[in-house]
Amino acid sequence: MIPPKQVQEILDATRIEEVIEEFVSLRRRGVNLIGLCPFHGERTPSFNVNPARNIFKCFGCGKAGDAITFLKEHENLTYPEALRWLARKYNIEIQEVERTPEQLAEMQLADSLYIVNEFALQHFQQQLFDTDEGKSVALAYFRKRGLREETIRAFGLGYAPDERDLLLRKAKSTGHNPELLKKVGLCSQDGGRDFFRARVMFAIHNLSGKVAAFAGRTMSSEKTIPKYINSPETEIYVKNKILYGAFQAKKAIRQQDECLLVEGYMDVISLYQACIENVVASSGTSLTEGQLQLIRLNTQNLKILYDGDPAGIKAALRGLDLALEQDLNVRICLLPDGHDPDSYVQEFGGEQFKKFTTENAKDFIFFKTDLLLGETKGDPIKRAGLVKDIVSSIARIPDPIKRSVYLKECSALLEVSEQVLHAEANKLIGQTIKKREEKAARQPSAASDLPPAPPPVYGEDPFFPPDPGAYFPPSEAGDLPPDWPQDSQPSRPAERKGGAEYQERDIIRLLILFGSHILPNEQISVGEYLLADIEESLGDFDNPLYGRVAAECHAMLMDGKTFDQHYFIQHESAEVANLAIDLLAEPWEFSPNWEAMWNYPLQNQPMPERNFPLDMKQALDRFKLQKVQKMCGINLQRVQNASKEGDHDAMIRFMKIQQKLNETRNEIALRAGTVVFGK
Ligand code: GTP
Ligand code: MN
Repeated sequence: MIPPKQVQEILDATRIEEVIEEFVSLRRRGVNLIGLCPFHGERTPSFNVNPARNIFKCFGCGKAGDAITFLKEHENLTYPEALRWLARKYNIEIQEVERTPEQLAEMQLADSLYIVNEFALQHFQQQLFDTDEGKSVALAYFRKRGLREETIRAFGLGYAPDERDLLLRKAKSTGHNPELLKKVGLCSQDGGRDFFRARVMFAIHNLSGKVAAFAGRTMSSEKTIPKYINSPETEIYVKNKILYGAFQAKKAIRQQDECLLVEGYMDVISLYQACIENVVASSGTSLTEGQLQLIRLNTQNLKILYDGDPAGIKAALRGLDLALEQDLNVRICLLPDGHDPDSYVQEFGGEQFKKFTTENAKDFIFFKTDLLLGETKGDPIKRAGLVKDIVSSIARIPDPIKRSVYLKECSALLEVSEQVLHAEANKLIGQTIKKREEKAARQPSAASDLPPAPPPVYGEDPFFPPDPGAYFPPSEAGDLPPDWPQDSQPSRPAERKGGAEYQERDIIRLLILFGSHILPNEQISVGEYLLADIEESLGDFDNPLYGRVAAECHAMLMDGKTFDQHYFIQHESAEVANLAIDLLAEPWEFSPNWEAMWNYPLQNQPMPERNFPLDMKQALDRFKLQKVQKMCGINLQRVQNASKEGDHDAMIRFMKIQQKLNETRNEIALRAGTVVFGK
């Protein structure tokens, strides 16, 4: 258990942009930061982070919340895990109460798998650094391959000696559950043998640096033994979503706005040691869409280093169309014969490596064209196939401008007219769109596979409808007649259908955003002021959700408890949490649109954060005005009923009430009007 005081300390220290930047590359736009949404594949950024309000929202898929929500969803953490993650990040030491065996048993499976892996990592490292065999065999091997101790530690390298069940025995004697070792593949399914034996070990980290799996390399050159073996897939090791080295590389990838892709573990490690840190490995397999997305979240520029033979390279190129679909700019660099990145950088050093790869990297499309052209000399049939092949790659590029530049260039290379290439590309694009539409029609849920719509302009966004009531009074107030018209129909509603919801929503917005802010001249909080003022209307909300939130706030204040936006974002009711996010997120920024649309001079208006006392008084006025008007309508009905029934006493009584209500209404309307539109 984390004590509540510390929870607050952690939340206070948390800057949402710093948390999200660990996973998503963000850039500033207005008051917000934007980037590509990590929750759904997208190519144009619709993922917004609002540092002032400490929240994020994706306009594409609708995911939204605070830093805790982000970690829960993105890293699959529980609430306490997310808090611990933040505490680690912000160097806050948690004085946690010891876990009981029951609590231990209750811990999430994922959590316990990570713990077992962490234990195994320490074991492998201890075998490497602290045993004679480790030092003389494994450490010597790493040294021979040119690795320094700091590198060996940074990548979690280790050693598994040639013993039947060393790890298993150690695990049992230190209270680790052998079942969990089985689950993560550290021992055989019968629980009798260690999985990794007589191998040097490579920890495979996930993006947040936890050990998700291991790879073990044999030190023998015996051809019958597999060179590498890997942990099996588990809940925490989904192979097609993990790139080796991504944890160590992600910062450099963003800084340099480029990702180098190599094949092997040793390639990543050697390059990193030579100060080329923006490098990840596909671990010998072809790239998956998930891995490409991971890269795309951090940069648009991918440089692939190949060391294979032409046949191998040709096979690899086929998979790269996927990268084009992600709108990645792909470049290919072939290393000189007989070298892989590791051997090259160990022999020639980092500077030479950079020079070589800069000078020799070729754009993927041109690289592919050149490579295939060489093979089709003098064979018209093969040549036609080649043209189709190249165009089918180009057709996958989502950016039409890029596409047409490629078609132009390739037209020259292939000696085929540009128009023919364009026609072929358009045909393919048409087919793809049709296929997607059919797929979407068959299974509506698959619609998310479609390229997402561009981020909406504020005001057209279904998640963020413009809420005029939040900033100025509804038309009823502005158009208010000087007095209630004599001939008004009793059936005329005092408010438009749902009209009250604007005002109610406004009250809830203030409670959530500023509920605990102290009013400068009143010495009480916004929440206390608001709720005291509308106490008698609490049971009278038109919108049941808003009514519930208001009643809950009221009850909490009565109990001497406080609430803030975090409380609502993490609310146990998803409905309330979503409402909180919507209100907090609204409006994300003042678009020029806003001003034009509503003819509202925003420049003269302080930002809501600084304006909350006035904001509150206006909202209260609008709320009360709306409620009074409703009462006017109801009472007028009574007057007319009494008159119909000839009950003069009742009629006079109700008319007096009506007069009073009208006075109150006009008073508020005048004040609201003055405040909002005056000077
Ligand atoms: P060194 O030979 O130590 O330099 O390793 P390397 O990383 O250069 O390996 P190599 O170029 O032979 O292979 C590239 C990658 O393919 C490796 O890093 C592994 O991820 C993977 N790989 C290679 N051999 C095997 C194998 O036998 N089994 C499995 N599962 N993967 C392998
Ligand atoms: Mn190698």
